[in-house]
Amino acid sequence: VMGFSRRRGSVSFGVDGSVRAVGRRAFIDDDVLGDEFDRVFHPSWQLLGFADEVREPGDYIVRTLGRDEVVVMRGEDGVVRALHNSCTHRGTRLCRASLGNAAHLRCSYHGWTFANDGRLVGVPALRSAYPADFDPGGHGLPTARVEDRRGFLFATWDAGAPGLDEYLGEIGWYLDAFLDCGAGRWEVWGPPQRVRTRGNWKIPTDNFAGDGYHMRTTHQIALQQGIYGDTLADGTRGRSGTDLVAVNIATPGGHSVRAGYVVESGRSIDDRDLAAPEFPGYPPERWADLAAAQTPEQVRFTSHCEVAHGVLFPNTVFLSVAHDRAVGEDTDPLTRFLVVRTHVPISARETECLYWTLVPTAMDPEWRQRSYRFQARTQSAGGILFEMDDFENFARIDAALARSAPDRGAPVDLSLGADRGVVAKDFPGPARAEVGTLSEHNQRAFYRRWAELMGELP
Ligand code: FES
Ligand code: FE
Repeated sequence: VMGFSRRRGSVSFGVDGSVRAVGRRAFIDDDVLGDEFDRVFHPSWQLLGFADEVREPGDYIVRTLGRDEVVVMRGEDGVVRALHNSCTHRGTRLCRASLGNAAHLRCSYHGWTFANDGRLVGVPALRSAYPADFDPGGHGLPTARVEDRRGFLFATWDAGAPGLDEYLGEIGWYLDAFLDCGAGRWEVWGPPQRVRTRGNWKIPTDNFAGDGYHMRTTHQIALQQGIYGDTLADGTRGRSGTDLVAVNIATPGGHSVRAGYVVESGRSIDDRDLAAPEFPGYPPERWADLAAAQTPEQVRFTSHCEVAHGVLFPNTVFLSVAHDRAVGEDTDPLTRFLVVRTHVPISARETECLYWTLVPTAMDPEWRQRSYRFQARTQSAGGILFEMDDFENFARIDAALARSAPDRGAPVDLSLGADRGVVAKDFPGPARAEVGTLSEHNQRAFYRRWAELMGELP
């Protein structure tokens, strides 16, 4: 069964309705990006940052929400708002810093002044030169809807969108499980790293949804360096005598999680000893506390999980992974980090990545410092072993797609693992969970939601 849109190329579907391929134009064409802003980004909730970045009244950060720049600002009333960063007089960009603290935003052109809740509170010559019926109350800054979920600040311009919990749906359960595994509050470590990269925003996003397939080629050096423990005889990952078994969970909303479990070679995730839960990368002496902070169902999901990553549709991704001492000092133990990223489109062929490292405040300061260091050395803009190799591939994709004639080349293929996934039995979380270490199950869900919003379903 083939779905085909004359307007922008093709999306191909399998007989089960899953997306099997996406035409190349979707990754290089600014007209497609224009449609994505209207159809994909506008109705969606997007991560702008974290409550930790705007702790005090007046604290602000400048971020992107769809097409628009917004000032994410905590008002004197303690409420965080996303204010359109454009004066309501002639449209001047109001805030030119990327973060700070201010009681007011004052326009550099004629001096209109907005309070940190977006109200227009100062108009030079208001009484002497404006008509009597001019109403400053009608000239406040447009504000997007903002919701704070466990310190994650999401926003949408769409007044008709469902609330954030409904929007996230079943994936919210998995997010909570990861966060509860930290036994308390998570803190954002510093302002985000930011880097502009070549390539379409969907390329790194689909990578995070579930691409275990690139590990043995793109990240072969990291595996050989022993980033997951011993180098095995075949040059791949692992502690001797173990396998990594991945479970893919994807929802109709396009959200996904891929969780990889360390099990004894040849065993399944059902053979884990849940009477003695293990949380790789956290200090073993804390494992009992971490288990006690979770429900039994959450422990069945988090125990023995060495790596987990996924997408909160459309452009927020996360990765929680335990790395070994190959990235640190010889005495460093296996250490976990959690990185959350957004992939913000600058154009169809350029993306700004923002990276936040989150650390659980329940861990001791030395562990938190090491967790941050491990993230910075691998999965950061300048990270060796991972990020540079990924970005190199994303740039090569962009270069080759952009240098091809419009009808040259195969569409982007998404059939890995299709029809081969086995439903995980008694999996503790909601939504369909498929066992399949090499599978594009989650990517298919991402592009199906994208195709649905773009009006490309058959
Ligand atoms: Fe901002 Fe005139 S454009 S005050
Ligand atoms: Fe990678």
